[in-house]
Amino acid sequence: MTGATAWDAFWSALPAEPGAALWDAPPELTAARHLPLFRDHADPALPLIDLGCGSGRQTRWLARHFPTVVGVDIAEAAVALAAATHPAPNVTYRRADLLDEDTAAALHAEYGDAHVYLRGVLHQLAPDDRGRMLTAVARLLGATGVLFAQELTERTGWYVAELLAGGAHLPKTAGLADHFDFGARIAPAADGRLRLLFEQHGFDVVADGDIALHTTEHTPDGQPLELPTTYLVARASGGTHDGGTHEGGTHDGP
Ligand SMILES: C[S@@+](CC[C@H](N)C(=O)[O-])C[C@H]1O[C@@H](n2cnc3c(N)ncnc32)[C@H](O)[C@@H]1O
Repeated sequence: MTGATAWDAFWSALPAEPGAALWDAPPELTAARHLPLFRDHADPALPLIDLGCGSGRQTRWLARHFPTVVGVDIAEAAVALAAATHPAPNVTYRRADLLDEDTAAALHAEYGDAHVYLRGVLHQLAPDDRGRMLTAVARLLGATGVLFAQELTERTGWYVAELLAGGAHLPKTAGLADHFDFGARIAPAADGRLRLLFEQHGFDVVADGDIALHTTEHTPDGQPLELPTTYLVARASGGTHDGGTHEGGTHDGP
């Protein structure tokens, strides 16, 4: 199955209510906690592209803070779900494969430099495709946009594998493991490697660190399942630094 077919099948099979997907946590626990990590670096007048927007739950929240927000997703079913469940006057949803540089160039021609919000997209790509997506992200950012990324790492994989091996009843997590080889694909994005991946592709990383990914599932002891993940704030190489201070929350990996 191609990425588009697999993701379309996933989103088509999912109930439409918010929170049906494992990662589809309320924005108060998600985008609202991410915005302070990149807001000081980002020109608030620029549009924002939510790359791999899924249900649009975070997209619509982000649209409170940027004049124009575009949610793009490779899955037609995700775009339809987002448009139906998370509309807003300044949000547009569209189907697009952001492994395609021409698609990124066309979006940049339409919107100009934009910020990019990238949550949980890279880890599920084949290793060769990660570089292609980073090239597309650099195109979208241009000289002035800022990227916020949250990604699963090797530690996330161990954490999930250990829970499942211990017999924890986590149907959404286990379902993803079946559908997407969740776990096996995480390893290449080992801790500390996310920053390296971006730097190797010419990005200027201005902040990174550990962050929890809030899920919509509960552990056997009734606690909300939170996955250990990493975040990163970056500019494309040669970008300007007018937007922010580059202070606080930064460390150089584990
Ligand atoms: C794990 S989900 C995360 C959804 C959303 N970012 C969130 O945090 O709720 C990953 C999303 O990336 C989308 N995706 C995967 N490959 C893509 C590509 N090449 N171009 C655009 N979207 C893609 C999938 O369809 C899916 O909706």
